Amino acid sequence: MTHDAVRVIRDEHAGLSAMLKSLSHMVRVGPDAPEIGGRDRYFDVLRAMLFYIDAFPEKNHHPKESNLLFPRLARAAPDLMPTIEQLERDHMSGEMRVRELMHLLMAWEYLGELHRPAFENEAVRYVVFYLDHMKLEETVLLPVAEKALTEADWAVLDEAFCGHADPLSTRRLRDPAYDRLFTRIVMHTPAPLGLGE
Ligand SMILES: [Fe+2]
Ligand SMILES: [Fe+2]
Repeated sequence: MTHDAVRVIRDEHAGLSAMLKSLSHMVRVGPDAPEIGGRDRYFDVLRAMLFYIDAFPEKNHHPKESNLLFPRLARAAPDLMPTIEQLERDHMSGEMRVRELMHLLMAWEYLGELHRPAFENEAVRYVVFYLDHMKLEETVLLPVAEKALTEADWAVLDEAFCGHADPLSTRRLRDPAYDRLFTRIVMHTPAPLGLGE
């Protein structure tokens, strides 16, 4: 049986990885591709994507992993220590990297084309870094967690990742503003990835 916390982690990874793939598609096609609908929209969508990544996973998803999941797993499965240390380093550098990326985007938007390659190169590196991070959690960490952690551990993790859900519902409660922002980005991102015209 999959624990609720694991289901939520995988769900959040899926949303984030859709966002990252969409971001790398935008970088690949550039602001002048016909489906983008103009430079202003291009920069608006990219800014919203980076803000989402900074505001939701960096502030919400990672702290729960770092503060609750990693320490329990380090005790229950000490062999995983090198992997946990790697993931923890990723969490620490990820927040700085996404801010840096926003800054590089603004340099391109406000200061001109000279600054475009720096943004594009770092965006590509960042997407690879983030997808690799989630893959490591999903393929190495979570399968061990499912075996090694106790029911008492899971009670704490399920509670933290799912919130105080209505007992009749498995729906997790979190600030709906993040979901609205996610929807807004998808609505404004050009097809085929988004729903924008
Ligand atoms: Fe993580
Ligand atoms: Fe994660």
